[in-house]
Amino acid sequence: MRLSENAAIGSLVLANRLVKSATLENMATPEGLPTRDTLRFYERLARGGSGLIITGYAYVHPSGRSYPLQHSASSDAMVGMWRPVTDKVHENGSRIALQIVHGGRQCRPVPKTGTSLFAPSRIPNLVYFTLPRKMTEEQIICTIRDFGRAAARAREAGFDAVQIHAAHGYLISSFLSPLTNRRKDDWGGTPELRFRFLAEVFREVRSAVGDDYPVMAKMNISDFVPFGLSPKDSFPAARRLASLGLDALEISGGLLENPMAMCRGSAPVDVIGRGKTFAVRMYFSMSLQFMRLFLPFRENYFQDYAARLKPTLSIPLMLVGGIRSLSGAEQILQSGCADFVSLARPLIREPDLPKKWRKGIADRAGCTSCNRCLGEMEQGSRLACYLKPETGST
Ligand SMILES: Cc1cc2nc3c(=O)[nH]c(=O)nc-3n(C[C@H](O)[C@H](O)[C@H](O)COP(=O)(O)O)c2cc1C
Repeated sequence: MRLSENAAIGSLVLANRLVKSATLENMATPEGLPTRDTLRFYERLARGGSGLIITGYAYVHPSGRSYPLQHSASSDAMVGMWRPVTDKVHENGSRIALQIVHGGRQCRPVPKTGTSLFAPSRIPNLVYFTLPRKMTEEQIICTIRDFGRAAARAREAGFDAVQIHAAHGYLISSFLSPLTNRRKDDWGGTPELRFRFLAEVFREVRSAVGDDYPVMAKMNISDFVPFGLSPKDSFPAARRLASLGLDALEISGGLLENPMAMCRGSAPVDVIGRGKTFAVRMYFSMSLQFMRLFLPFRENYFQDYAARLKPTLSIPLMLVGGIRSLSGAEQILQSGCADFVSLARPLIREPDLPKKWRKGIADRAGCTSCNRCLGEMEQGSRLACYLKPETGST
């Protein structure tokens, strides 16, 4: 397999095997609608030559919103507003998928709105210091329907596919994880029952968009925390998703409490601690540095997991995490451990990296994995690279 060759995800044909992995944009209106910034951001990416662009996570219901300027997929108003964006991406030869999410226990607490956080079980959130409520059966069913409605809107808005966000500790991921799902009813207690929520979300989405429309998912292969999801349960879950009719799976890892698993590299403690008390700054700083010791950056850091999963998986696999060079990306594809390579931070810095790679202008991406994009995003800033282009310093 080569990076520059055409490839398919279900009925969708892509110009190449390079995917822009989802990154929250912080560019929406307070109502969650796309803005001129959103349009410009995706136009630049499409011009840059990625075969498929996956948007940042859009919430399927206001109760699942994590950030004030996050995009929404929860109301019909999004359909007409995303049209110019999806059209622009298509004009520039790329394809675009909407990532849909419910934030669950990882939503930021919104003061004075009276909305409460909910999750499979009452497990405290150690970053925002919140305690979610345990979801009732009725809330579970309503949320599954919200995913279906959001996917239908995506199709109507001109998106070429949807990606169900089942990774990184958000609601679906928290159902999959034995750490955060302690239920003993029909939604927890065994790996099969913890998987049930994702299975039902997938079925609902599939029936909302039809058999011919590509539905993908992003899922943790491991939470990288004690008692969390591990390959013992995530690999069978991946195979079950494939047998249900998923079109492609992207694998990742980590939770809000352990972000260095997902985004390995430096810990931007000065950014994350900005405006916080000394005690909170110390708490974040020490915990992030501690995680870095166990989860250091190395290129293609989830590749070993992909190599183990891929031979047993019947659908295309996307590998994300630390892909920083053309040679490294080609090596992933040639070794056959993934069908697509997926990049996030490098394409925030250089949206035209795919073009540069195609023309042979560069091998290495300019991204230094400093994680300032992530830190600034946490502070509410717009998604951007906060390193100076020429020097690689802030
Ligand atoms: C600023 C930022 C925002 C992100 N937002 C999302 C998101 O909305 N959905 C998601 O699945 N992953 C999100 N991620 C994780 C990336 O998609 C990706 O899994 C991770 O950055 C590792 O890939 P990389 O080494 O190519 O950056 C985000 C990462 C960053 C740095």
